Amino acid sequence: TIPIVMDVDTGVDDACALLLAACHPGLDLRAVTCVGGNTVVDDVVRNTLTVLDVAGRADVPVARGAARPLLEEPVDARHVHGDDGMGDLGWEFSSRQPDERHAVELLRDLFLAAATDGEPITLVPTAPMTNVALLLRTYPQAAQGISRIVFMGGAARHGNATASAEFNVFHDPEAAAIVLDAAAELGIPVTMYGLDVFYEPVITRAEAERLVASGGHGPAELAGALIAFQCDRFGAPSATIGDAGAVCAVLDPQGLQCVSMPVRVELAGTWSRGRTIADARDWAGDLAHDPHGKAPATIEVALGVDARRYADLWLHSVHG
Ligand code: BDR
Ligand code: CA
Repeated sequence: TIPIVMDVDTGVDDACALLLAACHPGLDLRAVTCVGGNTVVDDVVRNTLTVLDVAGRADVPVARGAARPLLEEPVDARHVHGDDGMGDLGWEFSSRQPDERHAVELLRDLFLAAATDGEPITLVPTAPMTNVALLLRTYPQAAQGISRIVFMGGAARHGNATASAEFNVFHDPEAAAIVLDAAAELGIPVTMYGLDVFYEPVITRAEAERLVASGGHGPAELAGALIAFQCDRFGAPSATIGDAGAVCAVLDPQGLQCVSMPVRVELAGTWSRGRTIADARDWAGDLAHDPHGKAPATIEVALGVDARRYADLWLHSVHG
């Protein structure tokens, strides 16, 4: 089994990702940390605890993290994710309390222990990377306990929050820039599961209805309700598994086509702040051509996905 930690802003599709991470026998979900993003961080914590309870995983520690981006004012996405941030499904929320530690402290403790055990953990952020940036800058030694980072965010092509920028990076561009910079410095391999693939693995409404019909207030019923909510919201016959694709990328890297590219985050820009600029020039690694004099992080950028394979992986895993 692959040990993983998720950092989330639950979030309809973060909930889909959590269900996969909590239910798949090939993953050992060690903890979940929460950050403000799709909705306010207290609601993210409550939603996350609820999803884990439904999945029968009250054993997984959940910690509250940053309420706001490093520099920007928070802008939520409740118009996409519903007033409660998770589809307004009317399910009873968990009464479990989160861990007493701040998300950054929980991550530090886990990764330092993993470094000592010699069993590093995969970190999967599916949210603005405020917590991860604070972790890597405050406790860089934690990097020894991180085997790789597979994050949902960014885009080599176009954005969604703006024409240029993807929501998670747009929400906290400084944090994303710090994570890429620190990962390069500390030698952490990074995979970007961005918008170039994000919308492709989809579940049809009929498949969602079959999940809902399994009932019992279990993971399958919740998974189906989350997809059905998105179909309704967008008036579409199918909906993406979204952030869950980043978890699929950990389980089944062969289903993803990646290209290794230097990537920078645009921190200025009139219309392009928060854009991830993936450099496709074949001489891009040559500093002589780099006006900034500092090599950008070279990371694996997902440009293609076997969409049906990931959709099926998710479907079968949440069905139990
Ligand atoms: C990302 O933004 C959020 O709305 C989703 O949860 C996903 O992580 C997509 O741009
Ligand atoms: Ca998310």
